[in-house]
Amino acid sequence: PAVEFGLEAPFSVDYHETIGSTNNRARELAANGAADVAVLADEQTGSRGRLDREWSSPSGGVWVSIVSRPTITPAQAPLYTLAAAVAIARAAREAGVDARIKWPNDVVVPVGDDGDYRKLAGILTEMEGETDRVDWIIPGIGVNANIDVDALPEGATSIRDEAGDVDRRLFVQRLLEEFDDYRNDLETVIPAWRDLALTLGQRVRVDRPAGEVVGEAVDITDSGALVIETDDGQETVSAGDCEHLRPV
Ligand code: BTN
Repeated sequence: PAVEFGLEAPFSVDYHETIGSTNNRARELAANGAADVAVLADEQTGSRGRLDREWSSPSGGVWVSIVSRPTITPAQAPLYTLAAAVAIARAAREAGVDARIKWPNDVVVPVGDDGDYRKLAGILTEMEGETDRVDWIIPGIGVNANIDVDALPEGATSIRDEAGDVDRRLFVQRLLEEFDDYRNDLETVIPAWRDLALTLGQRVRVDRPAGEVVGEAVDITDSGALVIETDDGQETVSAGDCEHLRPV
């Protein structure tokens, strides 16, 4: 069902009260040629997280998957996900939450000054295409909005807990408008990401298939890779699971 959203950004909205996973629905639409559709649900029963993790999606959250057909190469795809993270963080900050980004694309709220945080939102991006061009890309966005923290996993927070409930329609509208601006101007993504980063300056451990890297996160590259100062020099890590460590 299509819903009118009063959006400035060029997305149509496909809204569901309850659905298995908005990413699954978005994949079906993409396979049928859709573009610029935001699949939105109040509640998901089979939501998927990164690295085959589960993602809890009770009623009250913002669960949205965006079908996009940009003219980008697969190498530029990470920028798309970072653009979504920047958009979420900016929309959450407008709602009064001290939202920051943990590399690569978790939106978190800092706890204390040592790099500790609670997770507010996550992104699962899926895509299909050839080696030189993306056919479709779907950033699947989960924001813990109007949800009690008791209903969320350990280590999570919500907009309700941080700043009080938001008007979810307005929040989604701001999120999609911000995302549209950044995806249309990919060069602005990394500078905006840097401004919101919680990870830069932290001691981190990044787990990746080629082994783990421990050191201080010092920068992010133009393509979104994390630059880590280790005991043996600099390493650039393009993907992996990042944990903030206590300062030594
Ligand atoms: C993560 O593990 O941090 C990413 C979580 C992504 C969850 C969102 S909720 C909307 C969309 N539909 C899904 O099944 N997953 C994503």
